[in-house]
Amino acid sequence: MTSILFITGNEHKVEEANRILSPFGVRLEMLPKKKIEVQSSSLLRIAEYAAYMAAKKLKSPVLVEDSGLFIRALKGFPGPFSSYVHKTIGCEGILKLLSGIEDRHAIFKCVVAFCSPSAGLHTFLGQSKGQISLYMRGHAGFGFDPIFVPYGEELTFAEMLPEQKDRFSHRGAAFRAFGSWFSSKSMAKP
Ligand code: IMP
Repeated sequence: MTSILFITGNEHKVEEANRILSPFGVRLEMLPKKKIEVQSSSLLRIAEYAAYMAAKKLKSPVLVEDSGLFIRALKGFPGPFSSYVHKTIGCEGILKLLSGIEDRHAIFKCVVAFCSPSAGLHTFLGQSKGQISLYMRGHAGFGFDPIFVPYGEELTFAEMLPEQKDRFSHRGAAFRAFGSWFSSKSMAKP
């Protein structure tokens, strides 16, 4: 197993990422520091900047993840402000904002940024398209899981088993992309 620092204060993200990365022989160690956030509405820019600054400071390979929920009827809100919006108005607030609105389309997006002093900066994207449910359902997971139903499914993320969520989730896609890149790169080493 290769161990990599994962800069996040969110234990749920660590648990999910470790589950997804274990088949690739990678184990993430949580470093609960606040990531250095550039003021930007782009998840990519936020994750890249935070990973670059952390690798430079720690002189070690690091991973940073930035994610958010983009709701079409709300013109992409809460997007990069998802964490703050979840802490303030929560799932109930989003359901209120959407009450009476037929268009429930939403996308969860995730950017994983890996930066190491030797390999430089690499980013991996994942997204999950779906619908905002009419009411909260389920107790698993975190954040907006109780109100997000991926397309083709009936259950919300919060009603799914962890491995089921990983199969459909934005984090699953982004960390699998990182895992296969990282393991192919490690195999290529002499
Ligand atoms: P950040 O990436 O730490 O800025 O936080 C992103 C926020 O988006 C989280 O605090 C959650 O509210 C929400 N979020 C991101 N990924 C998920 C997920 O897989 N399920 C539910 N909510 C999520």
